[in-house]
Amino acid sequence: MRYMILFPMLALAACVDPETPTGAEDFATYCSACHGRTGKGDGGVAATLPQRPADLTRLTAGNGGVFPATRVMAKIWGYTGVRPGELNGASPMPEFGSLLQGDLVPYDGGDGIATPTPARLVQLAEFLRTLQD
Ligand code: HEC
Repeated sequence: MRYMILFPMLALAACVDPETPTGAEDFATYCSACHGRTGKGDGGVAATLPQRPADLTRLTAGNGGVFPATRVMAKIWGYTGVRPGELNGASPMPEFGSLLQGDLVPYDGGDGIATPTPARLVQLAEFLRTLQD
């Protein structure tokens, strides 16, 4: 009788907690086609876009030497998908919020407050941090 109760619970645990991809894996899957394998903005489809994908190796350099983690995560999630003044406000970059949902981890974006943030989003930002020149 015990096993009959335990077994479905194990199956559920396997569904709820799948192997979460690493930041590098998510980048290769979702980002490199546009931003390029090394993040320089030279991916395979970059030339076909109406706007050049950002050079993701220059984020820290372009932000006074500080990696703009919060801005980067907001952009990936889709909060700041629209940039006024560029292409009438539209960006060719899709939002990834719905794809990156899953386990939450506490993340302090610099204001001392740890906010529950999707682990895959944090991992992606941390991967981008490793690409900085
Ligand atoms: C369809 C092509 C495309 C895909 C796929 C794409 N991007 Fe972008 N991305 C762009 C373009 C074009 C821009 C520049 C325009 C803009 O900022 O919206 C950009 C801008 C950005 C910026 C803003 C840089 C800054 O200066 O603030 C970040 C960060 C970024 N992308 C990260 C990512 C990540 C991470 C992924 C994968 C999860 C991704 N992008 C997927 C095309 C793409």
